[in-house]
Amino acid sequence: MKRLVILISGRGSNMEAIVKACAAEGWPAEVVAVISNRPAAGGLQFAAERGIASAVVDHKAYASREDFDAELARVIDGFAPDLVVLAGFMRILTSGFTARYARRMLNIHPSLLPSFTGLHTHERALEMGCKIAGATVHFVTAELDHGAIVMQGVVPVAPGDDAKTLSARVLTVEHRIYPQSVRWFVDGALVWDGERVTHRDGAAQQLLLL
Ligand code: GRF
Repeated sequence: MKRLVILISGRGSNMEAIVKACAAEGWPAEVVAVISNRPAAGGLQFAAERGIASAVVDHKAYASREDFDAELARVIDGFAPDLVVLAGFMRILTSGFTARYARRMLNIHPSLLPSFTGLHTHERALEMGCKIAGATVHFVTAELDHGAIVMQGVVPVAPGDDAKTLSARVLTVEHRIYPQSVRWFVDGALVWDGERVTHRDGAAQQLLLL
């Protein structure tokens, strides 16, 4: 059984999608802990209801990013994960932290990377007049929202969209590509080719909901 630790900062809908897919599809994996940097994160409630261990490492209690990341790593390592899953975890991580979990930490970002790294992706896509939008699952490196792409999901931008309607549409694709990506990791189906990642059997690494 592969051990998964999921990091959240808020609502935790991606975490929920992964927990549910893991149980429903009988992955050879277990979500052993959900860790939040915010005590009030909504997702903690879901973890409690499911009987999943949880922990809070409140970033406000630490003087520096290094101190916070050191404590976060200590708590994560206490659960001995095979994979760390960032699911709406809204902290910038130090390079020491990302190096520690190199090739065993995933993130989901609500844009078609490498476009729109950082915050306010939907507002910026709308401002640019983008006709498609989407989300990207990638391995985490020291550079924010970079790292090998595991899967991308694409949705149309509809006339009259605002950030709220667009983000809701993108979220539907997030809830499909993130569980799929984690499952591939669990199954050992992801293959490194230099700095890029492909699927062992050539499965489609994109989901087009157009
Ligand atoms: C998602 O849009 C994710 O891509 C972004 O933050 C949001 C988190 O949503 N990084 P949730 O907490 O998983 O519901």
